[in-house]
Amino acid sequence: KTAFVFNGPNLNLLGTREPQIYGAQTLADVEALCRQACAEHGLALDFRQTNHEGELVTWIQEAGRAQTQGKAAGIILNAGAYTHTSVALHDAIKGSGARVIELHISNVHAREAFRHHSYISPVAQAVMAGFGVPGYALAVAALAGMDR
Ligand code: DQA
Repeated sequence: KTAFVFNGPNLNLLGTREPQIYGAQTLADVEALCRQACAEHGLALDFRQTNHEGELVTWIQEAGRAQTQGKAAGIILNAGAYTHTSVALHDAIKGSGARVIELHISNVHAREAFRHHSYISPVAQAVMAGFGVPGYALAVAALAGMDR
């Protein structure tokens, strides 16, 4: 089965973007980490990043279809700032049938108030924040466990 890892806006800049918050590792490093974790848990990896909200909607629908067909374990979704703004992502998850783990590299609850609310959390299976980049590997392990 496939583990989808979808990354939203500005995550292409990981490594150079506010490294004091997000660390020095790049998105390519995150992908390599996910690939290793998926291999350990017998999952195929489909890893993507986009700066466009509608593209995330389309991808969530696609992953939902795969999940419904028994071909996917679910989605690890770091929706970036769209987490805090997007009713469209909320609706996409709700309607898709996809299992979603919401992930944030930073502890959003220890940051600005506008990061404390998530449109994703009410429709997510689980929420992870503040584990840094290693959180992605933890999320893959969790997704594999949920699918067992
Ligand atoms: C983030 C947290 C969001 O608030 C922020 O807009 C991001 C990254 C994280 O991974 O910590 O782009 O999702």
